[in-house]
Parts: sequence; C-alpha cells; structure tokens
Amino acid sequence: MKITEVVLATANEHKAREIREVLRGIEILPRPSELGEIEEIGDSLTENALLKADAVKEFTSKVALADDTGLEIDALEGKPGVHSARFAHPLASDAENVAFVLKQMENHSNRQAKFITVIALSHPNGDHLIAKCEVRGEIAHKQIGSNGFGYDSIFIPLEGDGRTFGEMSSEEKNSISHRGRALRSFFDQLKDFG
Ligand code: IMP
Repeated sequence: MKITEVVLATANEHKAREIREVLRGIEILPRPSELGEIEEIGDSLTENALLKADAVKEFTSKVALADDTGLEIDALEGKPGVHSARFAHPLASDAENVAFVLKQMENHSNRQAKFITVIALSHPNGDHLIAKCEVRGEIAHKQIGSNGFGYDSIFIPLEGDGRTFGEMSSEEKNSISHRGRALRSFFDQLKDFG
C-alpha cells in the first residue's frame, strides 16, 4: 500500500523540519494540538518511539510517525541514553541538560559519544515499521553554535569538519545525522511496506 500522509507524534519544530526535508512526497501532518502529553515510560528508544506512534495512530486513526532519540556518552557509561530529555532533572530545559552534560564531562578526556534515533511508523491496520540509526562524535568542551536544538551545540560529528551540529544548517546536519540516516533508511523501507 502506498503511504501518502503521516501524522507526526512530535511537536518539536526542529525535528519536524528535519523529517519534512527527507520524507519528500509524503504529506506531513502536524501533531494534533488536542492530544495530551504521551508519557515516555519505555525502557528503550524503540519502545518509546512505538508508544508515541501508537498513541497518535489511536487518536487520529491515521498513519502516525514518531521519533525517539538518545545521546549516549562513552565516559558516562552510555548515559543519558533513554533519559536524554530529562538528564538534569525531570522537567529540564535543553539549556539545563547541556549545562549538566558539560559539568559531568569536566574531568573526562574521553569525549566520545553517539546519537541514536529510532523512527517508528504505526498504521491503523496494526502494522509497524522501524528504522534505527546512529552517528558517532565527540562532546565539545563548551557550547558552539545556535542552530538546531537539544544537545546540538555540544556535539561534533566525526564525519563532519569539526563543527558542532549547532553550527550547521538543518540540511548539513541531516546529511550525516542520526535522524537523517534513520529517516532515509525508513523512507527506503517504506517503498516495500505492505
Ligand atoms: P526526544 O527524542 O524528543 O525524547 O529527545 C530526547 C532528548 O534528546 C531531548 O533532550 C532532545 O532535546 C535531545 N535531542 C533529540 N534529538 C536531538 C538532535 O537531533 N540533536 C540534539 N539533541 C537532540
């Protein structure tokens, strides 16, 4: 079956733009404003992505697409991982999370880390489609750049030119990022879906 439109589970405009840039030819509908907060109670990024996609599918009876992303830092034994959104405290802002990571990393010379994204699609007929990809990089010593969101200003992808994601346009970031890769893999699978 051909998927012509999907409803997004995310209200994050940065994520939505990155998704639109890759999924060309598919109409991307915004997250319904009447839909309340979906609690991310899963133990993994995949569980949380599925949970969000299913909740939006149930609410709209349409094909829904969710993204769940985590930052895993080697020196912090993979933290914050699935808890990336609330690393500093349960209601943390991006700025608080970034400051918290920089503080935790103060005495670590090993700055290696990776971003992982899971893209999940939930179809009203019960089918699911999942794509998971990552990008390796390093945690910068301070924030650089004001583009993007979340931890972008402290993440230097290995395949880049030394700039953080926060210094890149969304097209540049998408060409090497965890989300760009997962979306392209998802888009490829979609052609054979159903
Ligand atoms: P979630 O996927 O929205 O749950 O995101 C988890 C955490 O990772 C949040 O703190 C986001 O701000 C952050 N995050 C998600 N995607 C990205 C990204 O592409 N770059 C930087 N931070 C991100």
